Amino acid sequence: MTNHIRKPATLITGANGEMGHGLIEALASSGSNIIIAIDVRSIDQSLRSKCTETITGDILEQLVMERLQSEYEIHTIYHLAALLSTRAEFTPESAHKVNVEGTMYLLKLAVEQSRWHGFPVKFLFPSSIAVYGLPSVSAKKSAGKVAEKDWTMPITMYGCNKLYCEHLGRYYAHHYRQLAADTEKRGGVDFRCIRFPGLISAVTVPSGGTSDYAPEMLHAAAQKKHYDCFVRDDVRIPFMAMPDAIDALLKLEAAPASGLSQSVYNITSFSPSAGEIRAIALRAFEGADITFRPDDKRQAIVDSWPEDVDDSAARRDWGFAPFYDQQRAFDQYLIPGIRQRYAG
Ligand code: SER
Repeated sequence: MTNHIRKPATLITGANGEMGHGLIEALASSGSNIIIAIDVRSIDQSLRSKCTETITGDILEQLVMERLQSEYEIHTIYHLAALLSTRAEFTPESAHKVNVEGTMYLLKLAVEQSRWHGFPVKFLFPSSIAVYGLPSVSAKKSAGKVAEKDWTMPITMYGCNKLYCEHLGRYYAHHYRQLAADTEKRGGVDFRCIRFPGLISAVTVPSGGTSDYAPEMLHAAAQKKHYDCFVRDDVRIPFMAMPDAIDALLKLEAAPASGLSQSVYNITSFSPSAGEIRAIALRAFEGADITFRPDDKRQAIVDSWPEDVDDSAARRDWGFAPFYDQQRAFDQYLIPGIRQRYAG
């Protein structure tokens, strides 16, 4: 599709992942977007008709990036592709390639694009509670709502990658080639980043994350499958229903730049313990069978993440307000949605 008069397009990397699914549905239903979706796996059939173009390819491949550069006029990038926290511990060097080098390539693409069309490219980047690293369970208990600037000493490769990419984004947005005489050389990247809590979707199941015990527990329960939860019942981290995560990305994208006082924002909705999630699953799904068999190493990762985060800056600067609190999330979204997914 090489048009001479090119229309402003939105690029989504990692389009086949959980967030990609939700985001593409939402963008397609709003109607007005040219959506280019890219993933290393071929894009799900259900998403294809919602995208203008789907590309199966690796963002680390130069040819793929050159194709994106030459064929499209990209105004917005949602860079969702990443290896999550558990997966990344098995292959830390590849995680670094995908999570850091991949992000660099996309930032560079944004710079080049903005030089061509003359507008800043909005770069939406999902970061994570994994950027935090609380040193002990007692520090985690007493930390309360953790602010963006506190406790950023991650213990996972994924957390380190995300934290560094937050800085890279800020660099590309505000300091890129700061010594160049010609300001034209700088490019315009409008980097906007959300640190997401664990996300739970009713329609997709995550893979490779460490907050996965919550969605895995619910999806297993609905299928009457036995589930061994890999963390202790008392462990607590922040979570959010997937539709609120997608809404937040769209809301931050649409926010006027003048109102944004920082480039990285915490958001959260509710912080149930694993035991509370189990109790909800047992009540909701007949035949649910969930036991706790903590894996010390994955437990240690979750123990390093905060119980709660301070999202007051997101609420103040761009009006973040999740629709689904804990009760609504389970009663109106997760339980009916998951039930329906496995019905019949
Ligand atoms: N959900 C992610 C993970 O568990 C954290 O961002 O890796």
